[in-house]
Amino acid sequence: MEKTLVLIKPDGVARGLCGEIISRFERRGLRILALKMMTLSREQAYNHYAEHQGKPFFDGLIDFITSGPLVAMVVGGENAIKVVRTMMGPTDPAGAAPGTIRGDFALSVDNNVIHGSDSASSAMREIDLFFAAHEIMK
Ligand code: CMP
Repeated sequence: MEKTLVLIKPDGVARGLCGEIISRFERRGLRILALKMMTLSREQAYNHYAEHQGKPFFDGLIDFITSGPLVAMVVGGENAIKVVRTMMGPTDPAGAAPGTIRGDFALSVDNNVIHGSDSASSAMREIDLFFAAHEIMK
């Protein structure tokens, strides 16, 4: 089963969107294989977003993602990486279609409610950052 890492970012948690977002994945037929709420340290945030280091939005991104609790999940299923990204909509919510999570709940690229791994290699790396193997259901 393909697995992907999903984060409901601090804005999504603060706005009470966790149930809605988890429900969308479950109704689609994806499985929640692991789930935890946590506030990221700056070090964890740097590791998670290492590929964006040096970009103009990096410091703001680290401030935002460490600003409050987030929900981290491992979501599994056939083509889970692509299906989750399609359900999320594009990074910039301005171009996100209604019916997608960002298209329904986000306006700004900085506060875009949700993160999903963008490839199989990112998914493996990101899942390892958030979960020990024994925390992930089969
Ligand atoms: P995410 O999928 O979590 O990955 C990196 C995040 O950086 C992205 O979602 C956005 O929330 C944020 N971000 C802010 N500005 C930009 C930008 N110009 N391009 C891409 N991502 C951005």
